[in-house]
Order: sequence, then structure tokens, then C-alpha cells
Amino acid sequence: MVFPLGIILLAALAAANTAPAPLDYCAAIAGKQWVSPLEARSCMHSFPVDPVVKENIIEVVNKTIAMHTSVNYQIQAPKPFDKDVHEDLHKDLARISQQEYQSEFQFHLDLFQTFRRLNDGHCVVINYCYDSLYISYLPTPLVLLTASDGQQNVHIAPEAFTVASAEFGDEIKFWQNALPGKLQGQLETLNGAQVIAINDQDPFVAVDANALVTGGYQSLGTRQNSFFSSYYRGANGWSYQMGNFAQQVHPLTDVVKLTIQRVNSTTIDIVTLPYRSRFGRASKNFTDSASYRANNCLATNDTNGVDMYAVSHSASTQQHSEEPLPIAYFQQQPPVSRKEARRHPMNVLVDALPLSDIDLPTIMQPSEPALNESYSVAQFYMLSDNTTGVLALGSFSAANFSAFQHSLLDGLVKLQSLGATQLLVDVTNNGGGYICIAHWLHRIIIGSRSTTEPQAGLDTTTRAGPLAQLIVQKIVKDGMDPDTLLYYNPTQWTNASNIPFTAETEWLKPLQEVTINGHDDVFSQRLGQECQPFDVEPPRKAFFKAKDVVIISNGRCASSCSLFSITMSKLEGVRTVVVGGKKSTPQQYCGIVGGQSTDFSTIDTEIKSVHLKNHTLSPPDLLANLVQGITWRLGYGINDPTEPEEWQDHPADVNFPLTAETVNKPFAIWEAVSKEVFSAAITPPLLVQSQ
Ligand SMILES: *[C@@H]1O[C@H](CO)[C@@H](O)[C@H](O)[C@H]1NC(C)=O
Ligand SMILES: *[C@@H]1O[C@H](CO)[C@@H](O)[C@H](O)[C@H]1NC(C)=O
Ligand SMILES: *[C@@H]1O[C@H](CO)[C@@H](O)[C@H](O)[C@H]1NC(C)=O
Ligand SMILES: *[C@@H]1O[C@H](CO)[C@@H](O)[C@H](O)[C@H]1NC(C)=O
Ligand SMILES: *[C@@H]1O[C@H](CO)[C@@H](O)[C@H](O)[C@H]1NC(C)=O
Ligand SMILES: *[C@@H]1O[C@H](CO)[C@@H](O)[C@H](O)[C@H]1NC(C)=O
Ligand SMILES: *[C@@H]1O[C@H](CO)[C@@H](O)[C@H](O)[C@H]1NC(C)=O
Ligand SMILES: *[C@@H]1O[C@H](CO)[C@@H](O)[C@H](O)[C@H]1NC(C)=O
Ligand SMILES: *[C@@H]1O[C@H](CO)[C@@H](O)[C@H](O)[C@H]1NC(C)=O
Repeated sequence: MVFPLGIILLAALAAANTAPAPLDYCAAIAGKQWVSPLEARSCMHSFPVDPVVKENIIEVVNKTIAMHTSVNYQIQAPKPFDKDVHEDLHKDLARISQQEYQSEFQFHLDLFQTFRRLNDGHCVVINYCYDSLYISYLPTPLVLLTASDGQQNVHIAPEAFTVASAEFGDEIKFWQNALPGKLQGQLETLNGAQVIAINDQDPFVAVDANALVTGGYQSLGTRQNSFFSSYYRGANGWSYQMGNFAQQVHPLTDVVKLTIQRVNSTTIDIVTLPYRSRFGRASKNFTDSASYRANNCLATNDTNGVDMYAVSHSASTQQHSEEPLPIAYFQQQPPVSRKEARRHPMNVLVDALPLSDIDLPTIMQPSEPALNESYSVAQFYMLSDNTTGVLALGSFSAANFSAFQHSLLDGLVKLQSLGATQLLVDVTNNGGGYICIAHWLHRIIIGSRSTTEPQAGLDTTTRAGPLAQLIVQKIVKDGMDPDTLLYYNPTQWTNASNIPFTAETEWLKPLQEVTINGHDDVFSQRLGQECQPFDVEPPRKAFFKAKDVVIISNGRCASSCSLFSITMSKLEGVRTVVVGGKKSTPQQYCGIVGGQSTDFSTIDTEIKSVHLKNHTLSPPDLLANLVQGITWRLGYGINDPTEPEEWQDHPADVNFPLTAETVNKPFAIWEAVSKEVFSAAITPPLLVQSQ
């Protein structure tokens, strides 16, 4: 694995080793909001590996991936992702358990990057002790712009200074002073500058190096797009995503050298900008190494699962707070209560960076007010042509499931009553959420058809290894889930004919034994839909014809967003647009399909609730402040219904170029895209992906 920062890292370690013994690198930065990356990682590197903790983490992770559907598929994904996904987790864990590390942080980075290389935003290992503890920033997010002659170039975002000065406050002075010579104090003049080189190389060398480590999505195009800044419709407003260049999970990079040409300038400038590391929103205050560790690195009351029946019958045993699950901080959706999350199964992307709370500058936000039917992450607009309605949908989750479900219906009714005959659905940076909201939206836009009733999503399967089978047996034969609280309870699922299982059904069976990449594996029978009938009666008729609906995003549409987009595209023929992608890279309109995602603590709750915790296959309780995400159910494909949809192709119909005038301005993008995709004229060949 190429690790470009190795030298800096070793330098920090060397510094740590030669320093006088009493020096406490964590005490040195305690209480500071902003520090240099070197200061942050000196503290983070100052803990040696505790062999007991290391073994515990590897055992938990290893035993939990027995419930992750994709382990054997990910050893070598088929085309078109054969070059993107080829990671053997069991081999990796064997290697990591043998390897010596100079610090616990180094051990964690290896484990973290190993999981990242799956390029699967459902299957991750994140440690609150190290990931996003300090987030490193630059005040210069980048964008990929297309000039009128079709040339694409990397630029500093035109809004860079507005965003950075609003978000970073006084810290902006640090960067102002870091600029060389005449540019000192002139950070704003970098806005929109063309980036000719990053660290003396073509900018796409840096883009592609990031694509190797950023994880999250199978396709290279989507991981390239992650480098650049973008927007997100959050629960409380429009947010700005800095992108991986200007915002990093770990304090591993000290500086970046940019060769730029500023707007209207004839000269080339070289600027070396330092990263600055900011204490994370979820990081716990500390005063020295000991309190850093005690407050951030040890398992909390919420890290592990609970016996749901012990909790309800005896208040004195392990008590879970009503706080969202620990993994929720990293899920790319607004926070959802523990109760709502358990009642409505989720399929959601997990990133090591929490969802951004940086504001999209007001002048870039839609200036038209959204329709009153809008709610949270779902905002409805009418474009100036009075015929194109827009649904900006930042997530498939919102705090109140029922209000969300109603709002989607009411918004479409309203758009139609206002005369909308065509619809743009903007799912930029939509990391998924409630599975049944994805089904609902597909069903209500398209109307009642064989493709939407009763199944408006994908059939799924779950991995059915020995421990999963035992849990089901405990529930079915020993009646250990009388209140139907557990995911392994048969009564919440249906068979491939969409008939609900009875409480007596050992629903994993008949088992499907398969060989994947040379490994024997076993899955449940094919499962049907679990969302219908919906709590709200959907109208029978479609709101829009499929040919009049277009789904638009930056490709970063995951999980439940994939379930929605894939069924809309492959079953209904709805067109898809990716904005701002590199022309020579095929753009996927979504990625990370999954089926249902979950995490270690939820699986641990299943195990504890049926009293299988001391079975040899059960993971022990975690000692560290770690979260582990997995894919628990995996959706079957549409074009090839016998194989997972996860590694099937999702090519966008159009890769729409962005300019300095449209980039990161949702309304301007909608107007520009709607002119192209809804005009009677044939779509210009320039825009259609050639693949
Ligand atoms: C943590 O420290 C910051 C700044 O030093 C302070 O504003 C904040 O209140 C502290 N948080 C807690 C929970 O003590
Ligand atoms: C992980 O678990 C498998 C059994 O599923 C076992 O064969 C293997 O040795 C374990 N790996 C490590 C590193 O503990
Ligand atoms: C660049 O030049 C154009 C044309 O003279 C002008 O309209 C624009 O404001 C200038 N931009 C900057 C950032 O100086
Ligand atoms: C964690 O659980 C223990 C024992 O049940 C309890 O004493 C403690 O207050 C809990 N901590 C938090 C932060 O809730
Ligand atoms: C939308 O709500 C606002 C504030 O409640 C109200 O003033 C406005 O009249 C409403 N608009 C419509 C079209 O109902
Ligand atoms: C759209 O509707 C508004 C308000 O009814 C009207 O003022 C405007 O002229 C219409 N625009 C078009 C292009 O018809
Ligand atoms: C959720 O929204 C529904 C309306 O759809 C409302 O009746 C209910 O009270 C809301 N629940 C909460 C907890 O706010
Ligand atoms: C689903 O269950 C029903 C009722 O038991 C049964 O008739 C049907 O054959 C089952 N479908 C499949 C695909 O197993
Ligand atoms: C599992 O743990 C329970 C409670 O600690 C104990 O009673 C039981 O004997 C254990 N079972 C096995 C198989 O070790």
C-alpha cells in the first residue's frame, strides 16, 4: 500500500522517541480548538499497542464480518468494478494480527485503510479515538470546471473564501499570513484560480491518489468526485461539503504546494498552504494523555449491544441511553433516534467524517422559497419555466418518518397542482436512510404498476452462517423474542412471493449454498419486500411519466438512494445525470447498493438477547471506542436477478459539465440541466456518456 505520508509520520515518531520522557504531547494541545497536524498526530501516536486491546478489536471485527454479506464477493468483484474492489479481509486480518506497530494509531490506520479499500461505505471500522478526532482543513476547496471549449480544469472553488471565512473565523488569519510575498493577506484573490499543479504534479495525480484511499463507493468516478467540494440538503438547511482535498479524517498531511493562475492574472503563483487541524464535534475534552485516552478511546456504555429483555425487566443491568447509536455520528443522514432506527430498517452510508455542518453560502442557495409542503431534507421547488418541479432530497432519513412520508406525497401533489409536468430529483450527496422511504418515493412517483406493487425495491438475501442460524433457532424454537424486537425474528420479513413468514418459520432456510471467488458461502432464501402496505395509502396514478423524470447528483448517491435510483432507472427508464465528473471517466449515477446496513452493536444486541454471547462464534464485547458497519442484507440485481445488484453497472445517461457560474449552486444547476434534458431537441452528443 502506497502511504505518501510515511516520511512525515516517521519523522513524528522519531521526534516522539527522542523527546524527553515526561513530555506529554496530548497535554501540549489540550483545550486548543486548532492545532497543527503534526501536534495532533504526535499526541495520537503517543500510545503503544496494547496487545489485549489489539486482539480484542481483531476478534470482534473478524467475528462480525461473518454477518457482512459481501466478504467473499469483495475478494474480487466482477466487471465493471474488477479493478476497484479486490480485498480479502480474512487475509488482511491475519496479516494485521501478526504485524508489529509502533503505535496504536498506526495499527488503527492499517485496519481503517484495509476496510476503506473495500470501497464499500457500509463496511467500515471507525475508532472515535483517532478518526475525525481532529479534522484537518484547508481554506481552498477545489472544483472541476469545464470551459466553453470543453476543456476541464481543476480550480479553487469560486466561493472558497466566503465559505472558509464564515466557517473558520479568526483561524483564517493563519492562512492569510502563510501566503507568500504580495499574496499575504490576499487569500480571497485565490477564489476561482486554476490549479495547474498540486505538489508539482498534474492535479489528477492527487485526485487519483485520494480515490485509492477515500473508500465509500465502488466506482473510480465517484471517488474522484469525492475530492471536490459539493452541496448537501440537510435537515435544517443547505450545507457545504469541503471535499477530501480541503477536509481530511486524519492529521497526516502538513502542507500542500499549489501552482495556480488566479482569475484575470497572467502570472503563475506558487503557494504552500498548511493544513490546520480542528478538534472534532464529537471529540471529548482532555487535559493530558491519560484523560485523552479515558475520554475518547475506551468503550462507552453504548459501544456494545444489550440484552433487550434484561433491559426491560431490570433497570440495574446494562443500560442504553436513548442517544442515537454510536455509529450514527458517522452515518451520512440527519441523526435518527434509536427507536425510529429500529422501527424502520435503514440502508445508509457510513463515512469516517461526520456529515458536514458547514453552511452553503446564502447567495448560492435557492433564492426562491421552497414549497410549504417541504420537510427537513426534502425540499420542493418550481423552476421559472413553470413546468419543471424539483425535489431536492438530501437523505432518505428524517427525524419523523411519518411526517417525511407525508411531505413527499404532499409536495408532489402540490407540484402537479401548480402545473409541473416534469420532475428533477436532486440526490446529490444522498447517503441513503430508511429503506421504505426509497420504496415509497418510487411507488408514488411512478404509480401502481407491477414494478412498484408489492415490491418497489430489490429482493434481498442475508448471510446465513452457523451463528445466524442459531439466533433464528433461539427465536423460533425457544421463543426468545416474544416482543418481536429482533432483526432475526421471522415475522418482519417475507419470502420471494412477498408472503410474510410466520413466527414458526426458520426463515433462513432453505439455505442457498454458493461458491464465491472459490470460497463456500451460505445465504438465506430469497426475501421479498417488507414495506407494503404502507401506513399511508398511495394514489393509484403516477404523478409523472417516467420519461419526464430525471435524477441528478454528483454520483454520491448511496444505499437507499441507490435502491430508489436503480429501480427508477432500470425498471422505469428514468434518466440519470451526474454533474461535474471527469469526462474520460465513466460516471455511475449511484453506488453502494447494499440492501440493509447495520453495525456491530446491533448484531451484538441480537446475540445477547438470545443468550448466545458466550458461543465461540460470538464476538466478545469491544474494549475500544470503535464502531463497525456491515451490510446485513444484500439486494439482488435487476438486469441479472441471480447476482447482487451491488457490483452491476449503473452508468449515468449524462455527465453534465459544471462552470464557474453553476458549480455548487443548486438552482443554477437545475435550470441548466432541465434545459438540456427536457428540451425537445436531442441531447447534445457532447453530454452523453460514451461507454
Ligand atoms: C470542552 O472545551 C471547550 C473549549 O475548551 C469548552 O468550550 C467546552 O465547554 C468543553 N466541553 C465540555 C463538555 O466540557
Ligand atoms: C477469523 O475468523 C476465521 C473463522 O471465520 C478464522 O479462521 C480466522 O483465523 C480468524 N482470523 C483472525 C485473524 O483471527
Ligand atoms: C476578471 O475580468 C473580468 C473582465 O474584465 C471582470 O468582469 C471580472 O470581474 C474580473 N474578475 C476578477 C476576480 O477580478
Ligand atoms: C454507564 O453505565 C454505568 C453502570 O451502569 C453507570 O454507572 C454510568 O453512569 C453510565 N455512564 C454514562 C455516561 O451513562
Ligand atoms: C407558506 O407558509 C407561509 C408561512 O407559514 C405562509 O405565509 C404562506 O402563505 C404559505 N404559502 C402558501 C402558498 O400556502
Ligand atoms: C410562471 O408563473 C409566474 C407566476 O404565476 C408568472 O409570473 C411567470 O410569468 C410564469 N413564467 C413563465 C415562463 O410562464
Ligand atoms: C410525526 O409527524 C406526524 C405527522 O405526520 C405527527 O402526527 C406526529 O405527532 C409527529 N411525531 C412527533 C414525535 O413529532
Ligand atoms: C411463500 O410462502 C407461501 C405461503 O407459505 C407459499 O405458498 C409460497 O410458495 C412461498 N414462496 C416461495 C417463493 O417460497
Ligand atoms: C453462558 O453464560 C451463562 C451465563 O453466564 C452460563 O450460565 C452458561 O453456562 C454459559 N454457557 C456456556 C455454553 O458457556
